[in-house]
Amino acid sequence: MSDKSGLTLFLDGEEVPFTRGESIFQVSERHEKEIPTLCYDDRLDAFGGCRLCVVELEGARNPVASCTTKAEAGMRVTTRSGKLEMHRRVLLELVVSENREVDVDELSGYASQEMATLVDRYEARTGRFEGRQSGASRPDDPNPFILRDYDNCISCYRCVRVCAEQEGDYAISIMGRGFDTQITTEFGGILKESACTFCGQCIQTCPTGALGDIKALRHKEIELPIEKTRSICIYCGVGCSVDIMTKGDKIVGILPAMDGPANEGALCVKGQFAFDFVHHPDRLKTPFVRDDQGELVPATWDDALDKAAAGLMAAVNEHGRHSLYAIASGRAPNEAGFMMQKLVRAGLGTSYIDNCSRA
Ligand code: SF4
Ligand code: SF4
Ligand code: FES
Repeated sequence: MSDKSGLTLFLDGEEVPFTRGESIFQVSERHEKEIPTLCYDDRLDAFGGCRLCVVELEGARNPVASCTTKAEAGMRVTTRSGKLEMHRRVLLELVVSENREVDVDELSGYASQEMATLVDRYEARTGRFEGRQSGASRPDDPNPFILRDYDNCISCYRCVRVCAEQEGDYAISIMGRGFDTQITTEFGGILKESACTFCGQCIQTCPTGALGDIKALRHKEIELPIEKTRSICIYCGVGCSVDIMTKGDKIVGILPAMDGPANEGALCVKGQFAFDFVHHPDRLKTPFVRDDQGELVPATWDDALDKAAAGLMAAVNEHGRHSLYAIASGRAPNEAGFMMQKLVRAGLGTSYIDNCSRA
């Protein structure tokens, strides 16, 4: 029953092994217990703010937060009971009572449906505690990426913690207490004037859609289902995994892949938001060459390649092979990068080649 360490505890009556340092929540999750969470993100230090993950612990006077309570040998834990479910439902009713709305568009962000899903699961749309609302939205923030709709904020601080712990940026923080709690930048300014790098991680961890992906939300009126396609970001050599959201044949947004081996849910501003070039009307769809008057005109690939080859050879013949310098595109796949260096090294005889991914 125990693993090599010999540590075990009792989970809903069943003896299960655990590793020293694990929380009750982590042990329970491994054993497929459905414990609800709101302030938890497994990439971040446990915070213990929402109390939704409470479990009963034999000998403890009150239920304990499973995400912040370390597992100990011999513990007897109950993850589901009538009392716990009632406790969780009331907590959800209270949380919801401070927000303007529960239902937000799925395009808002990766975790944006978490609260609405739990509210439905616990049938917590009762309106019993409706009253004062907390958080003041910042519609005046002119940034083109992040909707700051704090009327829907539940003060879980996942955004603040992901910004500090994952991004190392500390661009946002917490101000005030109780109903006046507010997520803010230094001196209450706009994101553009803060340390924010617009990585988008705060959007993707927000469980209510209080932080939303403005670019994706522009497409919410398209009445087609969202499809997600796993891919690799095309911008640099790190290889971050992304799920590309499409409606029909249109890319509407990018989600970071939480299980991406290289990024574990992180992206930079380019990988997160810079996909407009795909559908941009100025995007080249055919090669262009200069005619005798020096004007760029559409050409066939054969014509364009012949012209490029002739120009490169003319430069080598006139100025020598080291007059050439090639820069490969970070948007091209590895195979294209390999062919490029072959062309430059073996074909043109120079080692002057680099790749914009290093920038
Ligand atoms: S976008 Fe990134 S850097 Fe900016 S506040 Fe959000 S997590 Fe922090
Ligand atoms: S903005 Fe979202 S992630 Fe940040 S504290 Fe509010 S609900 Fe939590
Ligand atoms: S998930 Fe444990 S307290 Fe919020």
